[in-house]
Amino acid sequence: MKLQIIILAAGCGKRMLSKTPKVLHKLAGKALLAHVVDTAQKLNPDDIFIVYGYGGEAVRQSLPNHNVHWVLQEQQLGTGHAVMQVFPYLDKNAKVLLLSADVPLIQVQTLRAFLAITKEYANPDYLGLLLANLDNPTGLGRIIRNKNNEICAIVEEKDATKDQKLIKEVYTGICCTNAASLMQWLANCTNSNAQQEYYLTELVKNAANEQCRILSFYVQEDFEVSGVNNRWQLHQLERIWQHHNAKQLISSGVSIADANRFDLRGDLNCGDGVSIDVNVVLNGRVTLGSGCNIGPNCILTNVTMGTNCNIFANSILENCVLGNNCNIGPFARLRPNTQLADNCKIGNFVETKNIIVGDNSKANHLSYLGDAKVGSNVNIGAGTITCNYDGANKHETIIADGAFIGSGTQLVAPVTIGVNATIGAGSTIRKNAKDNELTLTESKQQTILGWQRPTKKK
Ligand code: UD1
Ligand code: CA
Repeated sequence: MKLQIIILAAGCGKRMLSKTPKVLHKLAGKALLAHVVDTAQKLNPDDIFIVYGYGGEAVRQSLPNHNVHWVLQEQQLGTGHAVMQVFPYLDKNAKVLLLSADVPLIQVQTLRAFLAITKEYANPDYLGLLLANLDNPTGLGRIIRNKNNEICAIVEEKDATKDQKLIKEVYTGICCTNAASLMQWLANCTNSNAQQEYYLTELVKNAANEQCRILSFYVQEDFEVSGVNNRWQLHQLERIWQHHNAKQLISSGVSIADANRFDLRGDLNCGDGVSIDVNVVLNGRVTLGSGCNIGPNCILTNVTMGTNCNIFANSILENCVLGNNCNIGPFARLRPNTQLADNCKIGNFVETKNIIVGDNSKANHLSYLGDAKVGSNVNIGAGTITCNYDGANKHETIIADGAFIGSGTQLVAPVTIGVNATIGAGSTIRKNAKDNELTLTESKQQTILGWQRPTKKK
């Protein structure tokens, strides 16, 4: 049976008090809508329809490379109206799964289990509702049951009586049914309610009136169905999700110093015996080999490192690849396209960019190394600067194997330092330096006898 997924993302999210459409607000570094679309794609559906409206093009452009159908809801007249916009594209025989872009953390295994309960009811009309029992159901649609304890309606908070508001069983915004029934039940949906909106949730009453089977399914973890309607809910969900990530990682053998001070905004892969200190932020794809230690206050964005690397406190690494046994920081900044082989050392206040470094090479203090190829066993003294920019173009510095660069040296690119060459401290090197030789530029030292320091004017 065909599976078609509808994701509702047209609402403006007034309660966010933001110019950014609600569904583009980020959770764990990724837009709410992108979370839901990525999860939907894991179900391998035949189609994904995203109903968009508020924020129009910006919402579409947020997912340029996804294979989805965009359906415009010009006026946001309610969730029921939003679903109706997709009717022309539905296959009458398909199973339809409805998701909300503002319920971002629904997990694929939950959706699989939910879809499975409707499998055996594929032919007769059925309606599957994903529900939760919440201690605080405020703001959510309440589940109304008849004398036989069968679900017969959903009442929105704003339309609920005092007694109905006490109900803790709520609708999560996720349901599943066959396309033909969905179209039939929503066809006579009205907007005669407190918000004068066409409510999707009206379909439950219509389905119940037709003696349809209403199946309910409950999530294990509340965060999966927590909706984001305001900034505080987004903040809370972010913390719950980060805590959940930290717990999963700790349970799988990673040492995390404090689950409350850990932020993963992407995907993390860890070998054995990895340890992560407090206030570490991991963005994009991060791979840490066995035995790696990440010190406090480090930010890693798209970084891959081999085994037994130490990233000391306050270091920032972006788009880097490190071999084994590298020591970085404290206070190092490795900018994009930094590639280090094994046993390298990049120490405090060293900035690198677009650089390839061979085995056993070191730059321990206070340097800028950009647009360079550095061989193996190279020692770069404190205060070495690759002068890579002439004001118009960038040029390359090559430092061959075994070279020793004395402290306080400027290497004016393009320039090549030969194999085992030594550069004297304080040199400004503008021409290539020979293999195996000492090269230096000297500025004469002089003493001016009797010179007086200036005194402060009164
Ligand atoms: C909705 C449900 C409520 C449920 C809750 C779960 C309805 C009427 N109510 O309430 O029962 O408990 O979700 O989180 O469905 N949207 C559109 N077009 C519109 C209006 C909304 O696409 O015209 C989209 C929004 O962008 C959002 C989703 O539909 O992604 C839900 O809309 P929202 O206004 O947040 O509904 P809730 O009040 O949360
Ligand atoms: Ca909502």
